[in-house]
Amino acid sequence: MSQQATTAKRDGFSSRFGIIAAAAGSAVGLGNIWKFPYIVGENGGSAFILVYLLSILAVGVPVLLAEFIIGRRGQANAVRSFKKIAPNTKWSGIGWMGIVAAFMILGFYTVIAGYTIHYFILTVTNSFAGMSSAQIADTFNNFASSTRPIIYTVIFIILSLGILFGGIKDGIEKYTKVLMPGLVGIIALLVIRAITLPGAEEGIQFLLKPDFSELSMKAVLDALGHSFFSLSVGMGTMLTYGSYISKKESLTSITFSIAAADTIIALLAGLAIFPAVFAFGIDPTSGPGLVFITLPNVFLQMPGGIIFGALFFLLLFIAALTSVVSIFEVIIAYITEELKVNRHKAMGLTTLAVIVIATFCALSQTPDTSLIFNGHNLFDWMDLLSANVLLPIGGLLMMIFLGFIMKRSDLEDELQHGSKSIKGTMAYITITKFIAPVAIAIVFSTGIQALFS
Ligand code: TRP
Repeated sequence: MSQQATTAKRDGFSSRFGIIAAAAGSAVGLGNIWKFPYIVGENGGSAFILVYLLSILAVGVPVLLAEFIIGRRGQANAVRSFKKIAPNTKWSGIGWMGIVAAFMILGFYTVIAGYTIHYFILTVTNSFAGMSSAQIADTFNNFASSTRPIIYTVIFIILSLGILFGGIKDGIEKYTKVLMPGLVGIIALLVIRAITLPGAEEGIQFLLKPDFSELSMKAVLDALGHSFFSLSVGMGTMLTYGSYISKKESLTSITFSIAAADTIIALLAGLAIFPAVFAFGIDPTSGPGLVFITLPNVFLQMPGGIIFGALFFLLLFIAALTSVVSIFEVIIAYITEELKVNRHKAMGLTTLAVIVIATFCALSQTPDTSLIFNGHNLFDWMDLLSANVLLPIGGLLMMIFLGFIMKRSDLEDELQHGSKSIKGTMAYITITKFIAPVAIAIVFSTGIQALFS
């Protein structure tokens, strides 16, 4: 295993379950368990969820399938796959954008991921005991605006390297096959605990009874933008994983399994959180602090709160870990294949760069920071520019690439390996060419306006 790795047989997933565990591991992340519940809370509950489900189906699924198709056809990293499918064109620029987005997302995402380690420790050591709600909020704000998150971020990154070390089959696949079932088990326990609390009904109703009066244009845009982020599409993560999928597999069926797993887990996260929040009479609309401020309050009052609290932060940690690994893989695959260095050297280089970016992101949250541009700190910029700009443009360009640039016969060939539905293929081509690009273009143009207004 060294420089010759590129001429030897390419590493790849060895089973269908392994592919689904790894790709669902990428999709299920902080987006599902930290962000989805709070944007549901801010946008009035279940009416928002309906719009989100529509966005997943109309835009998220087609782009996810597009990434798998391009990756498996290209059999290479995000940049080279485009070069192989459309030689001597500029389409590999999409791959480049993906690499840039990968660094940006890792920059802020690993910081929040690090919080999960700190909060796991705080919970198991019962550190919130006796605190008032205000003190719990102060604990979070003091922590997030100090330099302490940097330490946890570095620890988190080192743990993810442990998974990346063994490559695809003996690294990512091996670990996600254990971690993802573990995650499902934990979330099931948390849901059971939450919905059996006295007074849980109100929280369940909040999630299940649509109230369209709260639904604004902003909610629709949030739903569309979040469907991209949640499915990990628009920057080559799923493309890179797609390049490791064997030709025997049906990409369509894998795509639907992953979209379903991602959506179900987001909904279960809501079911683990809102019934408990309502049962203890706490406001569900607290935004990003929902998980780190509201929930410690809930666990403090809940019977068995230390155990369920610890399980919750473990869940968040696992979810973040398998997502961070997938974003890292985009960069590592690029460096190993293009710069012809071995995997471990590529991991080292990438890690150093990510630690530097994440450190600046964490520092931009401290009170005396000068890392504020145009009213947003660096941390927020990394989030906004990647989620509102790079992912939608990436997704849009990939759909155009698939619909208008890639040879129709190549596309049909990829779609029909492992499955035989011609009708499905035709429907997909229509969505690819017309529906998805228009929807993405609308979100994108509105998202950009919001960013610069
Ligand atoms: N989907 C993950 C989440 O929901 C985050 C993530 C992983 C991601 N890889 C990505 C987002 C690639 C965008 C692009 O938390």
